[in-house]
Amino acid sequence: MAYTIGVPKETASGERLVALIPEVVARLVKAGATLNIEAGAGESAHYSDAAFEKVGASLVSREAAFLSDIVVKVQPPSAEEIGLMKDGGAYIGFMKPLDEPDISARMAAKGLTSLSMEMVPRISRAQKMDALSALSSIGGYRAVLLAATELPKFFPLLTTAAGTVRPANVLILGAGVAGLQAIATARRLGSKVSAYDIREAVAEEVQSLGASFVELEIEAQDDSDSGGYAKALVAEKAKQQTKLLVPFIGGSDVVVATALIPGRKAPILITEEAVKAMGSGSIIVDMAASNGGNCELTEPGQTVVRHGVTIMGPTNLTSGMAVHASQLYSKTLLAMLQDFTDENGFAPNDEDEVFTGSCVTRGGQVVNERVNGLLNPAPAN
Ligand code: NAI
Repeated sequence: MAYTIGVPKETASGERLVALIPEVVARLVKAGATLNIEAGAGESAHYSDAAFEKVGASLVSREAAFLSDIVVKVQPPSAEEIGLMKDGGAYIGFMKPLDEPDISARMAAKGLTSLSMEMVPRISRAQKMDALSALSSIGGYRAVLLAATELPKFFPLLTTAAGTVRPANVLILGAGVAGLQAIATARRLGSKVSAYDIREAVAEEVQSLGASFVELEIEAQDDSDSGGYAKALVAEKAKQQTKLLVPFIGGSDVVVATALIPGRKAPILITEEAVKAMGSGSIIVDMAASNGGNCELTEPGQTVVRHGVTIMGPTNLTSGMAVHASQLYSKTLLAMLQDFTDENGFAPNDEDEVFTGSCVTRGGQVVNERVNGLLNPAPAN
């Protein structure tokens, strides 16, 4: 029995990606699925309706796309979109389950089985499904390019007849996926790069990319939680950390901030004092802007100038590279669809740790403990 996969057009403000690109659609059609692509869904990512039709997809209305057996999306579905989905259907995409758990509650009420791309565990087998990492690489790259165009200086060392220009000093805060890509990009542009992370284990990786690792005189905290993410710093250490970072930030022309602990407000690493220590014309690109920002002066979605420093808080860097961002995201969805469907449609394996890790709603319930905890906080004693 053939089953349907729906790809609606993204409607969230500023979102340009499409969940599946024609190349991936072709593979799903070949595997026996019927692909319902909302007309115009790929337009903003430069994938035409004709390209989808050519690989065997059906162009359908918004309603028909949402009524498919499995709906795949980029941005979490709005309340109206959840209403359009099939009772008891399946959803795979971003859901912001830890930031906006109400979305999950609504999806549970609709009886949807939902897999959250944010919750895919960071284990080797699930690397091909790790959408956050795929998109963070793009974010790290774009953040550096933004800084390079905004900085009133060269990035590389330049020797000219009119004199020598010293390379820009770039500091990357947080050396996870986005941070490492930012380091590599800043190095390719010829700048002098240093990076800092609470996980000292990344020092080697940082150095292998040609950057120096900033070590602060605070007690090391080298532990990751079971999902492969860093743990939050205790308050006292965090205070020590921001103080010790001031001279490093002050000495940088560009700071790209990527520090994050999933499900928490971003840690403040750049205080106003640190901004004041930077030279006029310096740039901060705060990639954590949507989670509150790593800099206390960041305004999400805005570029502001404070104490002579341009502070950018982009919230959707990936949309600026919609072709490749859609391509990579699409491949992570394909990996999920391949693992969790058979010839009859959605057929997840309950023993599978990627499925159990990423499944947020099922059988009318929110089945993820953390999300449940946020929706039903334990009463204070
Ligand atoms: P990740 O989890 O791979 O890396 C985050 C790093 O921050 C980890 O290495 C962690 O150890 C480090 N960190 C956490 N707390 C720290 C602290 N107090 N001091 C120093 N380092 C600390 O995350 P990923 O995938 O690299 O994403 C980074 C950020 O970029 C996230 O906030 C993500 O939402 C954001 N992002 C933003 C985009 C945009 O358009 N603005 C696009 C893509 C990602």
